[in-house]
Amino acid sequence: MYLQEFYLDFLKEHKYRYILYLFTLLYIPISKVGIPHFYGKLIGYINDKKIIKAFHILIALIGLWFLTQVVHTVSNMVHARFMPKFVEFFRTRMIDNIFEKYSTNFEDLQIGDTIAKIIKSPWILEDVFDTMENAAFNNFLVVVSSFIYLFLYSKILGITYAFSMICVTLIGVFFVNECTDTVQISEHIFDRTHEEIEDTLSNLISIYTSNKVGHESGRIKILSKYIYDTQRSKLKCFGKYRIRFTIVFVIVFAILNILSFTIYLRKDISIATLSAIIIINYSLLSSFMGVYYQTKHIIDLKGRIEVFINYLNKLPKKNNVGNDEISNTNNGVNIELKDVYFSYSPKKYILNGVNLTIKAGENVALVGKIGSGKSTTAKLLVRLFDFDKGEIFYNGVPIKSLSLENIRSHFRYIPQHPKLFNRTLFENIIYAVNRNVSKEEVLSLIKSLDIPEVYTTFKDKMDMSVGKNGSKLSGGQRQVVWLLRALLTRPSVIILDEPTASMDNKSKVEVTKLVKKLGENSTIILITHDDILLDYVDRKITFKDGVIVDSN
Ligand SMILES: Nc1ncnc2c1ncn2[C@@H]1O[C@H](COP(=O)(O)OP(=O)(O)OP(=O)(O)O)[C@@H](O)[C@H]1O
Ligand SMILES: [Mg+2]
Repeated sequence: MYLQEFYLDFLKEHKYRYILYLFTLLYIPISKVGIPHFYGKLIGYINDKKIIKAFHILIALIGLWFLTQVVHTVSNMVHARFMPKFVEFFRTRMIDNIFEKYSTNFEDLQIGDTIAKIIKSPWILEDVFDTMENAAFNNFLVVVSSFIYLFLYSKILGITYAFSMICVTLIGVFFVNECTDTVQISEHIFDRTHEEIEDTLSNLISIYTSNKVGHESGRIKILSKYIYDTQRSKLKCFGKYRIRFTIVFVIVFAILNILSFTIYLRKDISIATLSAIIIINYSLLSSFMGVYYQTKHIIDLKGRIEVFINYLNKLPKKNNVGNDEISNTNNGVNIELKDVYFSYSPKKYILNGVNLTIKAGENVALVGKIGSGKSTTAKLLVRLFDFDKGEIFYNGVPIKSLSLENIRSHFRYIPQHPKLFNRTLFENIIYAVNRNVSKEEVLSLIKSLDIPEVYTTFKDKMDMSVGKNGSKLSGGQRQVVWLLRALLTRPSVIILDEPTASMDNKSKVEVTKLVKKLGENSTIILITHDDILLDYVDRKITFKDGVIVDSN
C-alpha cells in the first residue's frame, strides 16, 4: 500500500540510524526487569546480613541505572534527529505527489481540505512512529521480559501474568474496533470544516454584496457544532472502555500480588525474589494502565490514518506520459484533433467527437455558445486532462507520447480567469521564462507594445506584491501579465481564452495589438465572442454541444 511505501522509502534512506535507534531501546528491559531483579537481590542480602555482597549489588544497581540513563539519552538524541527528517520527507513527498497526480488530471483543488491534510499528516505519521515505539516495542519488550522472569521463578505466576496480559490486550482490541469509527467521522468533519471555511473566506465579495454575513457565520457554527457532537460521541465510547479497563486493572493487581505472596508463604521463592516480583508487579501495573492510554491513542491515530488513506486513494491516478518531443518545430506546430471525446464525469461526454486541423502559423478563433466545450478543448491541447477517445497529433506525433514539458514549452494556454501568485508583479511576469530577464528588459518590452496605460501602471508596481490571486490588479491587468509571459517565452502556439472578457473597448483595442504581435511568430487560438478580435483571425471554428459545426 501507498503509505507503507512512504515509510519503507524513508527507512531505507535512514536504515543505519534506525538500527542504532532500535538497539538503544534495550534500555527498556534493563530498567523494567533488570533493576527490580537487583533490588530484590539487595533486599535478600540485607535480610541475610551479607552487607559486603549487598554493597556490591548497590554499586551494580547504580552502574545499571547510569547505563540505562546513557542509553536512554542516546535513544532520545537519535530520535530527535530522526523525526524532523521524517516530517520533512513526508510533507515534500505529499506535495510532489499532488503535483504529479494532477498534472494531467487538472482541477482546482479543495484547498482547505488539502491543506488540513498536508499540515496534519506528517504529525500523524510521526505519532504512528512514536506509538509503534511505545506501544509495540516498549510494551512488547516489557511484557516478554517480565513473563520470562516470572515464569522462571514460578510457572503459575508466569502463566497468570500472561493470561492477564491477553485479557487486557483483548479489551484493547475491542476498544479499537468499537471506537475507531467515531474518530474517523470527527476527523472527516474537521477537514470538511476547513474546506468550508476556506471556501467561505474566498468568497467574501459575494458575502458582503449579498448581505450574508450572518448566514455564513451560522453555517460555520453548524459545522463547529457537528465537530463538538462527534467529539462527544468519541469521548463517550472512550469512557465506556475506561470503566472496563479499571475493573480489569484492579482484579489483575489483586490476583498477581496475592499469588506472589502465597507462593512465598509456600516457600517456593525467597524474600529476595518476592521483593523483585512485587516491584515488577507494581511497575507492570503502570504498563497495564499505559495500555489504556496507548490504545486510546492508537484509536485516534487509526481513525486519522484511515481518513488520510482514503484521501490518498481518491487522488487521481497518475497517467502515462511519453518522452518524445514535437518534431520540426522550427516551422511551427500542426495541430490535428481526430474524433476527440471527453467527459468530466463518467458517461456524460462534454466533447462528442471533435475533428479539427489547425496549420502551423494560422490564427483561428473558437466561438460558440456558453458551455459548448471551447475552454475544455483548449485545456486538452495542453494536456491538462486526458481525452477518453480519439487522438490529438502535433506534427503527426500523438500527444500522449510527448513529454508534458515539451508540450507545455510549445503551447501556452492563457485561462479565462487568470490567477497570479501573491508575489511581485515582476516575478509574475517572468514566471514562465527560463533565462535571466532584467526589469529593464521587461519594461522596454512593455513600452514597445505602445500601450501607455499598462506601461505607466506596471512601471510603478513592478516590485509590489499583487495580492492573493492577483487581487490588487484589475482583471484586464491580470490578463496582460499572462500575455506578457507568452510574449517573453515565444511559444509556437498561444491559446487565449477570452482575453478581452474583462476589458473596456479601449483596452480591447490595446490587447488586440498585443495579440497581433504574438501572432507574428506563433499560431494563435483565440476563444472569444469579441468582434474586434474576430476581425483579426484567419477563420472561425464554431462549437455547438461539444462538436464543431463550422470551421471556415
Ligand atoms: N471541471 C469541470 N467539471 C465538470 N464539468 C465541467 C468542468 N468544467 C466545465 N465543465 C462543463 O463542461 C461543459 C463545457 O465547459 P467549457 O468550459 O468547455 O465551455 P465553454 O465553451 O468554454 O463555455 P464559456 O463560453 O461559457 O466559457 C460545461 O457544460 C461545463 O459545465
Ligand atoms: Mg470557456
